[in-house]
Amino acid sequence: MTAPSLSSALAGRKVLLIIGGGIAAYKALEVIRLLSKAGAETMAVLTKAGAEFVTPMSLAALTGHPVRQDLFMPDDETAMGHIELSRWADLVVVAPATAGLIAKAANGMADDLASTTLLATDKKVLLAPAMNVRMWLHPAVQANVARLKGFDGYQGMAVVGPDDGVMACGEFGPGRMAEPPVILDAIARLLAGQDGRPLTGRTAVVTAGPTFEPIDPVRGLTNRSSGKQGYAVAAALAELGAQVTLISGPVALDAPVGVTRVWVEAATEMKAAVDAALPADIAVMSAAVADWRVDGVASGKIKKAPGGPPSLALIENPDILAGVSAPGPRRPKLVVGFAAETSDLAANARAKLSRKGCDWIVGNDVSDEVFGSDGNAVTLFTRNGDEPWPRQSKTQVARKLAQRIADHFKA
Ligand code: PMT
Repeated sequence: MTAPSLSSALAGRKVLLIIGGGIAAYKALEVIRLLSKAGAETMAVLTKAGAEFVTPMSLAALTGHPVRQDLFMPDDETAMGHIELSRWADLVVVAPATAGLIAKAANGMADDLASTTLLATDKKVLLAPAMNVRMWLHPAVQANVARLKGFDGYQGMAVVGPDDGVMACGEFGPGRMAEPPVILDAIARLLAGQDGRPLTGRTAVVTAGPTFEPIDPVRGLTNRSSGKQGYAVAAALAELGAQVTLISGPVALDAPVGVTRVWVEAATEMKAAVDAALPADIAVMSAAVADWRVDGVASGKIKKAPGGPPSLALIENPDILAGVSAPGPRRPKLVVGFAAETSDLAANARAKLSRKGCDWIVGNDVSDEVFGSDGNAVTLFTRNGDEPWPRQSKTQVARKLAQRIADHFKA
């Protein structure tokens, strides 16, 4: 039974149900009925093999939507193609998840609507495996399931079941698909963010990398930030379910899975992009923003002249962090700044905490192996005290910070 506190997680939510080919497919009909009773909306994708066990007609009647069966159906692709379909849902459920569907997903194969949707989705996926006991226990299937649960940097898939019992084939053991109320409970837990994704439903803006302040069309002022720490923070927040917009200066990194990236160069562009991304619940400003820019950027390349090098007049850039932290209706509920210091870390970071008005500051001493490296030693400064975190990978720092953010919202 779905716990009463969880049942509200289903009302108004959208579930995309992919039905694979197995005798357990008939239970998918009951899953849809229970979802609808709890106020959730369902759309169904039926594989070719799945259609041997349940009819599109029953699925359409229960979901109230046409059933999607083919990758290449012009009407479906114009109305809602496989990308839109996967984005439409709050959660994707595969029930029954056959050995074939699991193998395709684990290996990135996309040769029909179901497998393409699984690869295209940016949403959490719940698998309800169902297959013969020997198939389920086969090391190849177990390796595929383990792989799907834990893709590094990826929102790993969740699995419910299978159950032990007598199977349709007469054998006994694990392989029976979980019962519909158990699947419903797992769906509710995922939607409520109670399966390790406590930031589900939260929005976050993260800045990362350096800014580049032009001098003329070919030259500029920048710094040594590689973006690694900020990108890791964006990935860690997305892993916990947040919808993340990453405002990035020029770096050579791929966008983390499920994160929307906005490229910028100068600090003024970064400020505009951050403003456009608000309102948000969380802001983490880890970019190394240039404090100054050149006053009067030359429209052509500045020539070397006999009189010696040109003088550059600098003017102050807007303080993006201070702007985001300023009280007002668009202020994120939690604003986290970073402080890069080469001396007096605690005093300088604390001064920034109060001057900029943010809630927390992650202070790092950048005099030793931080810019561009994979590791970082930081101290978290809050109004309740200082917490030094020993040197660890930037991914670990980011995950710890994301978990602290999740705990903050839970509290
Ligand atoms: O990118 P990596 O190679 O992984 O390195 C990571 C890092 C060292 C860049 C990162 O951990 C870090 O410390 N980022 C903050 C760098 C910085 O600009 O610190 P700051 O002390 O100058 O600025 C303090 C805070 O104000 C920062 O949150 C910064 O984003 C913000 N700021 C600064 C100036 C400005 N004009 N606007 C701002 O918003």
